[in-house]
Amino acid sequence: MKTQVAIIGAGPSGLLLNRYLAKHGIESIVIEDRSREYVEARIRAGLLETQSVKLMEELGVADRLYKEGMEHKGIYLQVPGERHHIDFEELIGHTVWVYGQTEIQKDLDAACDKAGQEIHYEVTEVALHDIDSDHPSVTFVDKDGNSQKIECAVIAGCDGFWGPSRKAIPDVEVGSFERVYPYSWLGILANVAPSTDELIYAWHPDGFAMHSMRSDKVRRLYIQVDPNDDIANWSDDRIWEALAKRMELTGWELKTGEITEKNILAMRSFVSGKLSHGRLFLVGDAGHTVPPTGAKGLNSAANDVRFLGEGLVDFFNKKDASLLNRYSERAKETIWRVTHFSWWMTTMLHTSGNEFDNQLQLSQLKHLFKNKALQTNLAENYVGIR
Ligand code: APR
Ligand code: PHB
Repeated sequence: MKTQVAIIGAGPSGLLLNRYLAKHGIESIVIEDRSREYVEARIRAGLLETQSVKLMEELGVADRLYKEGMEHKGIYLQVPGERHHIDFEELIGHTVWVYGQTEIQKDLDAACDKAGQEIHYEVTEVALHDIDSDHPSVTFVDKDGNSQKIECAVIAGCDGFWGPSRKAIPDVEVGSFERVYPYSWLGILANVAPSTDELIYAWHPDGFAMHSMRSDKVRRLYIQVDPNDDIANWSDDRIWEALAKRMELTGWELKTGEITEKNILAMRSFVSGKLSHGRLFLVGDAGHTVPPTGAKGLNSAANDVRFLGEGLVDFFNKKDASLLNRYSERAKETIWRVTHFSWWMTTMLHTSGNEFDNQLQLSQLKHLFKNKALQTNLAENYVGIR
């Protein structure tokens, strides 16, 4: 097979990039090691910044988002006994959209189908070759067991944190940074009526709790747990009790119901030392990951797609490599802002069991409730104005 760009990974990064390139007349082939059903069902984040929504609109994949998504004008931040609304619209005139990644994935898949874009699912033995040259290639074994080779001009590594692309860069550990946080999230999906109009982020001495949503019928809720905890220790009743206690507020009630999914997620910040090498470019989780607090994972992937897309359009359509050569530098500026914001939200809201730290967090949150400059800073970072 021959193409301009070989895209490894059909998650949001891979498919947004594929759609961006197609819009500008650039050909790409996408390979993915999981099945389409698995990728479409994978539960991930559900909150889109203004910039991500704009990108989806530009790529013609925002129709359902506008119809079925929920526009949120702010969030609630809570400490015991006090829930404060941070009004993004009033502070900075911007909003965010709640729309599940599963739905984004389906919309991207449908757009690929409509465009006749083939995606090779369930491939194995993916390997990158000659990334230092101007004719790199990707080899793999397809679903039917046939060995395949994609000859291309550029490889986009959109294969997530665990994929092979980043590992293909020599000495990639040099200048890479990682922080594994000493807490995890236990996340549930539940068929319950809404208890709140907007997301609630709650600090509590027992640990952080959060109320998010996926649609008018489905809630997404999280509680902070120990990283060594086991999901088997958490009966549905215990989860609802912890959520109700941590988000308790006079006059407010958490509605409970059927839990359809529960799992524990580790929390990590990671930034790769290099986001590109020769003709290989890393996009999204392949190059950087954030803890989920603030929901920046998908949004920063969309940001990478725009920067790489712009670079590739100049490279292929204008024969000008200057923007492409600056991809890593341009993307990293945003990545570090997002890394800082996610770290700040995470460390402000998760308890460590240390009473001094608790008092500092409470002081910071109560200060934020009163201080418009701090709220504006939070709002700008949350909606993705950088
Ligand atoms: N070959 C082909 N595909 C691979 C390989 C491989 N060897 N290894 C991994 N993949 C696929 C994964 O199965 C997955 O579908 O690459 C894809 C990477 O997708 P994500 O992990 O979703 O990463 P990305 O597309 O960068 O997503 C960006 O959205 O919600 C967030 O947590 C998510 O932060 C991430 C963001
Ligand atoms: C989610 O809905 O999964 C979500 C939303 C906001 C966050 C984190 C996760 O900050």
